[in-house]
Amino acid sequence: MNDNRIDRLLHLILTDGRRVQVHGQSVAEHCVQTAALAWNASAPLTLVAAALLHDVALLVDEMVGNAGGLDLDPRHEVMAADILEPVFGAPVAEPVRLHGVAGRYLALTEPDYLRGLAPSVREDLLSDVEAAQDGGGAPLSDVEFVRAFVANPWAAAAVRLRRWDDRSSGGGARGAELMSRSELADLLHRVARSAQQPLSA
Ligand SMILES: [Fe+2]
Repeated sequence: MNDNRIDRLLHLILTDGRRVQVHGQSVAEHCVQTAALAWNASAPLTLVAAALLHDVALLVDEMVGNAGGLDLDPRHEVMAADILEPVFGAPVAEPVRLHGVAGRYLALTEPDYLRGLAPSVREDLLSDVEAAQDGGGAPLSDVEFVRAFVANPWAAAAVRLRRWDDRSSGGGARGAELMSRSELADLLHRVARSAQQPLSA
C-alpha cells in the first residue's frame, strides 16, 4: 500500500511535475534541486524527503482524481502535509506543513530576508501573509506569531526547508549534484519504513 503511494508521489513530482511551472522552473526541477540542497547540507533523510515532496500539492489535482473524497486544505503546504503524514510521519509532514509560515517568520526576524528572495517568491509570501491576516478571527500580532512559531517543535526543520526552497526558487541550486530517480525512490522507501517502525530506527 505504502509502496504504491510512494511510487505515485515520486511519479507526480518527477513526471507530472515536468509540466507544471513554479517560480520560473518546473516543479520537478525545483523539487529535485531543493532535495539536492538538503542532501548536500547533510540533512536527515526525513528532511531530504520533505524537500523533495514539499510542493507535491501543486500537482494534487491528479492525485485527488485517483484518491477521491479527500478533505484537503487549500493552502498547498497544509495539503501536502496531510498527504505525506500517513506515509512518512511527522518528521516529513510537519516541516512541509510549516514551510509557508517559516517564510513569514524569516521576514519578521531577518532584516535582509525579503530582499534576498526571487521577486515571484517575495510576492507570494506577502500575499500569503495578507491572506492569513484576513482569514477570519483576530489575526496574530507579529510578536504573537513569532512566539507561536518558535514554540513549534518542527520550527527549526521548517526554517531549513524554507531556506533550501527559497534558494532553489531563485536558481541558487543550479549545478547542485542531483540524485537519480532510483536513489530518490530508495530514499523515500527507507524514510517510510522507518516511520512505520520508529523504535527500530
Ligand atoms: Fe517550493
